[in-house]
Amino acid sequence: MQKFIIEGGHELKGEVAVGGAKNAALKFVVASMLSSEPATFTNVPDIEEVNRLLELCTFVGSEVSRDDGQVKIQTKEITNIKLDPELVKKIRVSVLLLAPILARKGEVHMPHPGGCAIGQRPIDLFIQGFEKFGVKVTENAEGYHFKTDKLRGMKFVFPLVSVTVTETLMMAATLAEGKTILKNAACEPEIPALAEYLNSCGAKISGAGTNTIEIEGVAALSGGVAKIMPDRVEAGSFAILGALCGNPIRVTNCNPEHLEALWTMFDRMGVDYKLGPDWVEVRKTDNLKAVDVVTHEYPGFITDLQQPFTVLLTQSKGMCMVHETIWEGRLFYTDKLKQMGAQIIMCDPHRVIVNGPSKLYGRKLESPDLRAGFALVLAGLVAEGTTTIENIYQIDRGYEHIEERLQKLGAKIKREE
Ligand code: EPU
Repeated sequence: MQKFIIEGGHELKGEVAVGGAKNAALKFVVASMLSSEPATFTNVPDIEEVNRLLELCTFVGSEVSRDDGQVKIQTKEITNIKLDPELVKKIRVSVLLLAPILARKGEVHMPHPGGCAIGQRPIDLFIQGFEKFGVKVTENAEGYHFKTDKLRGMKFVFPLVSVTVTETLMMAATLAEGKTILKNAACEPEIPALAEYLNSCGAKISGAGTNTIEIEGVAALSGGVAKIMPDRVEAGSFAILGALCGNPIRVTNCNPEHLEALWTMFDRMGVDYKLGPDWVEVRKTDNLKAVDVVTHEYPGFITDLQQPFTVLLTQSKGMCMVHETIWEGRLFYTDKLKQMGAQIIMCDPHRVIVNGPSKLYGRKLESPDLRAGFALVLAGLVAEGTTTIENIYQIDRGYEHIEERLQKLGAKIKREE
C-alpha cells in the first residue's frame, strides 16, 4: 500500500496545468460503445478510475489501446452481457454500461454495485428510467437482470437531479425507437459535451445543458473523435490550493466559466485571484472571511469541491456552516481534519460547523475517498510538521500523478511504499 508523506508549511509557486475531466472521459468511453466503429479520445487522464473502466469495457468485448493521453476504443461486438461483480464493485460508473449493452443486445446481468464511502448510491433511478424505455427489470441475490426486445422512446421526469442517470438515459435514447424527453435532467457541463460528441456520431440530441433534453432515436451511430474537456474539479482544487498557500499559483488549461460558484465564494471571502480565458491565478491572503456553503447541482457549488473548500474554511476567520446536500456520507472526513486541529462540529451527516482559523498539525491519516483524500493533502500542505496519508489509491482514482505536479510547485510531498 502506498502513502504520501507531506512536510507542511511551505509556500507554493508556479504553474500547474489541469488534465482531462475524469467525469467526462468515463462517459465518452462508454458512449463509444454505442457504436461498432472506432473512437479516439485525447486528453484522457491517466487515473485509476479510467484504467478500471477500460478493464470492464475489455471484459464486455471492446478492443482498447492507450498511448499517452490518447485512448482508442472499438466495440465491434458486445460479447459479454454478464458484468463481472468484482469489476463492477471497483468502479461505480459501471452502471453506465447499461446504455450501450441494452441498446445493442437488449439484455444485461448487472451485479449489485453496492454502496461506498460517500453514500449508499442506489440505482433506483436507472431502473425507473429503463422501465420507461420498455425494459423488464428483475432482481435476485446476485443482482439485476435487464431485458427488452428493443428500447422505445419515452418521457422521464427525474424525481431528483442525477448526473450519471441523465447521461445513461441520454445515451440509451440515441438508439431507441422514436423520441425521448428527459425533464429535470442534470445540467453539468460534461453533459452538453457528451451530447456534442454523440451528435458528431450521428445522434439527434437537443437541449443538453438545460433541464429538458430531447433525443430523437437513430438506427445506428458512427465512430468519432473528441478531446476531453478540462477537469473543473481539478481546476477548483488547485485554485483552493492557491488560496491556502499560493505565492501565487497559476492554474492553466482550465475553463473558469465552469467554476462561477467557486469564484463567488472567493469574492465573499476576500481571496486574491485573477481570471483569464483559460487560467486562474490565486494567491494566499490573510484574514479570509468564513462563509456558509451549500452544495448544489450545477451551476451551484459542486459537491466534489466541498472537501478542499472546507480545508480553506478552517483557515478563514469566523464560524460557518458546510451543508452537503447531495451525498449522505461526504462529511465524515471532517473527523480527520479535527484530528489535525481544526475546530469542526458535526450537526448531522449533512451539516458541519467550522470555526476558524485553526492551526493544523501533521498527523497520520487514511484517505477515505477521492475528494476527501485530496482535502487531506491540502490540509497536510498547510499543517505544521509531517502528515502521512495512507490508502492513496483513492486519490490516484481521480488525480493524475498528483505528487509530481505538486512537487513542481515546491510542495514537499513524496510517495512511499
Ligand atoms: N441517486 C439516487 N438514485 C439513483 C442515482 C442517484 O437516489 O439511481 C442519488 C444519489 O444517491 C445522490 C444523488 O442522487 O444522492 C445525486 O447523485 P448523482 O447520480 O448525480 O451522482 P453520480 O452521477 O453518481 C456524479 C459524479 C460525482 C459527483 C456527482 C454529483 C461521475 C462519475 N460522478 O456522480 O463525482 O459527486 O455526480 O455532482 O460523474 C467524484 O468525482 O468524486 C464524484 C463522486
